Amino acid sequence: MLNLDRFIVEFDKGLRTLFAPAQTVRPLPGRELAEAPLSASDKKLAGALMRVNHSGEICAQALYQGQALTARKPAIQQALQQAAWEETEHLNWCEQRIRDLGSHKSFLNPLWYTGSLAIGALAGALGDKWNLGFLAETEHQVSRHLEGHLARLPAQDEKSRAVLAQMKEDEEKHATTALQHGGAPLPAPVRAAMQLSSKVMTKTAYLV
Ligand SMILES: [Fe+2]
Ligand SMILES: [Fe+2]
Repeated sequence: MLNLDRFIVEFDKGLRTLFAPAQTVRPLPGRELAEAPLSASDKKLAGALMRVNHSGEICAQALYQGQALTARKPAIQQALQQAAWEETEHLNWCEQRIRDLGSHKSFLNPLWYTGSLAIGALAGALGDKWNLGFLAETEHQVSRHLEGHLARLPAQDEKSRAVLAQMKEDEEKHATTALQHGGAPLPAPVRAAMQLSSKVMTKTAYLV
């Protein structure tokens, strides 16, 4: 495809990620559970946590999109397409919980998206070994982060908990996929820098 065509396709994907409702094939985890009566402060807390997770999934969309622009082997691209699709489902599920909890998405999502797209493209440009290592480390960190949110959610909010539990299972599978395709372990300073930048995102998205 011509570069300009490719650019338009990717730009369109970005706009849809940020502004159109995400699609899902798998139904919302925990849809069979009743909405628990939450106090105003618990509802606010759960809404803010789900906003952070939604922004995380916006970043995941951009990361997978960025690496797909530069990843080399078609077999790897194909394996990661399934993971990228599951990230879209996560985005949909988080959107649903944000709406049901009466909260709002982060106003800074375009910023998180653009930054993650650039990081994903950079990781992809370093070659499949580092690209996959980066994806695996990202997924590990997301999984640990979700574990923290599972503990922080109000005890009665089983519906949000069901969503995060399924997401965590998926993220661990994504990490395994990336490692199985040859992802290399990242140097400790890189892992620390990734942790720091995700901390900035999660703390800010919690507020706005
Ligand atoms: Fe995800
Ligand atoms: Fe993932």
